[in-house]
Amino acid sequence: MGTDAGDGYEFVVVANRLPVDEVTDGDGPHRWERSPGGLVSALQPVVRQMRGAWVGWTGSAGEAPDPFDIDGMHLRPVPLSAEDVDLYYEGQSNATIWPLFHDLVEQPTHRRDWRRAYEAVNRRFARAAAEVAAPNATVWVHDYQLLLVPAMLRELRPDVRIGFFLHIPFPPVELFMQLPRRRELLQGLLGADLVGFQGALAAQNFLRLTRLLLELGPKDDRVEVDGRTVVARAFPISIDVAEVDQLAADPAVQQRARQLRTELGGDRRLLLGVDRLDYTKGIEQRLEAHHDLLADGEISNDDVVLVQVATPSRQRIAQYQQLRERVERAVGRTNGEFGDVGRAPVHYLFQSFGRAELVALYLAADVMLVTPLRDGMNLVAKEFVAARRDEQGALVLSEFTGAAAELDDAFLINAHDTDDIKRGILEALNAESRDLTARMHQMREQIRAYDIDYWARDFLEVLGVSGAHEAEQAETAQP
Ligand code: ADP
Ligand code: F6P
Repeated sequence: MGTDAGDGYEFVVVANRLPVDEVTDGDGPHRWERSPGGLVSALQPVVRQMRGAWVGWTGSAGEAPDPFDIDGMHLRPVPLSAEDVDLYYEGQSNATIWPLFHDLVEQPTHRRDWRRAYEAVNRRFARAAAEVAAPNATVWVHDYQLLLVPAMLRELRPDVRIGFFLHIPFPPVELFMQLPRRRELLQGLLGADLVGFQGALAAQNFLRLTRLLLELGPKDDRVEVDGRTVVARAFPISIDVAEVDQLAADPAVQQRARQLRTELGGDRRLLLGVDRLDYTKGIEQRLEAHHDLLADGEISNDDVVLVQVATPSRQRIAQYQQLRERVERAVGRTNGEFGDVGRAPVHYLFQSFGRAELVALYLAADVMLVTPLRDGMNLVAKEFVAARRDEQGALVLSEFTGAAAELDDAFLINAHDTDDIKRGILEALNAESRDLTARMHQMREQIRAYDIDYWARDFLEVLGVSGAHEAEQAETAQP
């Protein structure tokens, strides 16, 4: 599937964010940095391989830069004004849909002006995609910020094939029913030819809603709408296993992992958390379990250290600001109660890291803590497994992540129950090396078989872009 920039692109991804964020330090020149989150980690290798175009926002309010090419991708920035950021991104996307789709972990707010902005911005994204797509192109729309785009795009460009993939959970019917203008949201998604979800239950919820709210007659994994067939199915997303594997094999990364361990206190066992600072990730519950283990004397500051990396995220939203305050208070409390001079039980890093440093952390860890209260998939869990070529290290994993369905050899826990998180951590710390190897071996087999390439090929083949991926791979392989 090659591209012809003159007539547009044959493969177009549309997502709220571009894979890079525009960063300006003071008056200095601007630069581009990889943008946060699992969506970008997963999709970047696919778009690069397909030499496609990516329609999205730069992460900064104001005018959008002109389209440009980077890293084998054509990027088409969509402008968001400060008001759009406020109402569409921070409001309707992240303070209404995000909490509601994550089982009301926080209370959603419903506002008419947010919904209006959401619709207007979705239309802008649809127009940009319509401009960039070649005749009969494949356009793949992503995530909860753009639920209305498939129908809007179909209106503008009935010739293109439209796929949609939801990276986060799709809520149970009773929760979806709470959304104002819920029919429009469903109709928006039904503009696609294929709607993909992280799990089978999500696809079923969606199809049931088409019956309940739109009186359609879904059958098996499909539903007829206006003489078209829309398929809804699960496609659990994965990671670029080869990229992580390559970094994990790099002697410099391995050296950095050894250095991290030495700096953290030689033979202390290392517990690790790596997340966006988001209330869905169960960071507070994890910190509480760790605190209680220290308080109960089950672990001690001499033997165990916790490193929690938290990427700054959505920092202007009140619920995220409050979360940050609570997390930082909890870290301070544990360090105050159980720390020694020069030796803290928790190292909290409110920072973003490069890929190599993240992989060094994964290699250095004895126990990886992935404890979301709800998560569509969780790529960090899969990255940790991909990094552990030594088949050592334990994964404590919340049952409420999509990843738990595939990585069931992890130490599975109920993240809503602090005692169960404590149990999982202790089991992981006390497990025999043979047991860890057996578990890690199984999990590595799983992610190697279903990596990001498999995921994309699977989705695109069902969408009817059969053979395109292989053709592209062959093309890429040529000198
Ligand atoms: P989400 O999509 O909700 O952010 P995921 O776990 O699915 O959660 O994906 C997170 C992605 O962001 C992973 O690829 C992970 O490596 C990356 N990431 C998480 N924390 C950091 C960090 N502190 N620095 C750099 N990348 C990070
Ligand atoms: O994967 C979920 C997701 O919300 C993506 O859609 C998003 O790009 C990423 O996490 C990071 O969030 P944000 O773009 O709001 O920083």
